[in-house]
Amino acid sequence: MAKKKTVFFCTECGNETLKWAGRCPACGAWNTVVEQEIQPVNRGARSGDGRNSGFHSVKAVSLTEIDTTEEVRFLTGMGELDRVLGGGGVKGSLALVGGAPGVGKSTLMLQICGSLCRENQTLYVSGEESVRQLKLRAQRLGVASANLLVLSETRLEDVLQSVSEEEPDILIVDSIQTLYNGALDSPPGSIAQVKDCTMALMQLAKGRDITVFVIGHVNKEGSIAGPKVLEHMVDCVLYFEGEQHSSCRILRAAKNRFGATNEIGVFEMLDNGLKEVENPSQMLLSGRPDGAPGTCVTCVMEGIRPVLAEIQALLAPAPYGSARRSSNGFDYNRASMLLAVLEKRGGLKVSTCDAYLNIIGGLTLDEPAADLAAVLALASSYLDRPIAPDLAAIGEVGLTGELRVVNNLDQRLSEVRRLGFRRCVIPRRKGKAAEGPEGLQVVEAANIGEAIRAALGK
Ligand code: TYD
Ligand code: MG
Repeated sequence: MAKKKTVFFCTECGNETLKWAGRCPACGAWNTVVEQEIQPVNRGARSGDGRNSGFHSVKAVSLTEIDTTEEVRFLTGMGELDRVLGGGGVKGSLALVGGAPGVGKSTLMLQICGSLCRENQTLYVSGEESVRQLKLRAQRLGVASANLLVLSETRLEDVLQSVSEEEPDILIVDSIQTLYNGALDSPPGSIAQVKDCTMALMQLAKGRDITVFVIGHVNKEGSIAGPKVLEHMVDCVLYFEGEQHSSCRILRAAKNRFGATNEIGVFEMLDNGLKEVENPSQMLLSGRPDGAPGTCVTCVMEGIRPVLAEIQALLAPAPYGSARRSSNGFDYNRASMLLAVLEKRGGLKVSTCDAYLNIIGGLTLDEPAADLAAVLALASSYLDRPIAPDLAAIGEVGLTGELRVVNNLDQRLSEVRRLGFRRCVIPRRKGKAAEGPEGLQVVEAANIGEAIRAALGK
């Protein structure tokens, strides 16, 4: 018997190697490399191969002959999703919607079906729920239309057959881990299967101009072949994120061939499905504690939209030798740097304290503009003095403790004002008067010492 050939894949980044390793040589993740048998490719049996399915055209065309007058974008009926997609879905594209199990991916997709199927024939294929369960879910979400077809199926061949019979405009596959190609030996959810099925769906999208949304589960252990492996194959990768105990859900684009990737969509999970949050700042600040030390509000830009975020910090005396540092939603190295600046330039002895930094609502702040609020939250916790609830702070902190101006300051200040804040600490601007929108007092500071004095009176 011929020896079976195998290769190794990293479930985090999809890197392929010939040898197993405890740590992926490409992305550095631990315990993510899994063995995969190389499948003998039997072209005739592979329904995933576009050449056999008759969808494939081999004639090259001149770029000038391609007709683009027809509208290629369509609106999904969910403004927040359209925003993340870059102004609506693109006909004939394949988007992958990834997220942890239970975050609400199926709910989001079924909900957009409600408005999509008004103008488009929509096919929802679920490998996870029966058609009855789908109907019950759709009823709860208030989605009902004769244009919405549902199919409970896991075999790729059957799904492709149903697509050729029904000829839908939009196809939703829930989830890629349950779909399998019978021509391959590997089990559903394995890397070979998810790659093959995604490739088949991609050819369907491009060849037949069907818009495909594919749901993919990601889990932290990476034991299921997650969407990471598929990122390079698809047009658009959206991640749906949210914390288990919070109703706030954030949709962000990790890749988009047809738009920017810096927009986020904010939703709230309610009993009757997802509700778009038009005013994310207000929602993210809704649970702010009154008069507690260690919290400060800042304004970050999510794409072109300013969003207010609350940063919480806790500094507690470290009981044993080395101090603990932890940060959630804020870059760890940046937090360590800010603590060092606070010690050396701000004169606070934070090195003897355990330090925790947390961004409320599951946001990830990767903008230097959040530095100043982080420093003020840390200082407030250290000094055990609350920052006034109507004060916000925006600015980058440099290594000498100086404050640096950030972009879009006027837009950020307007958002701060809109949410009812009365004062905002910002970096001193040379040759420019300290003024902000009406009703907001702008307090300028040249360094963190001045900012701490302005915010905490010390
Ligand atoms: P679901 O969309 O099934 O998650 P996924 O497809 O990402 O695995 O959503 C699951 C969770 O959402 C479940 O814990 C219940 C909750 N949920 C609501 O709170 N309201 C709703 O209307 C629905 C449909 C689900
Ligand atoms: Mg689901």
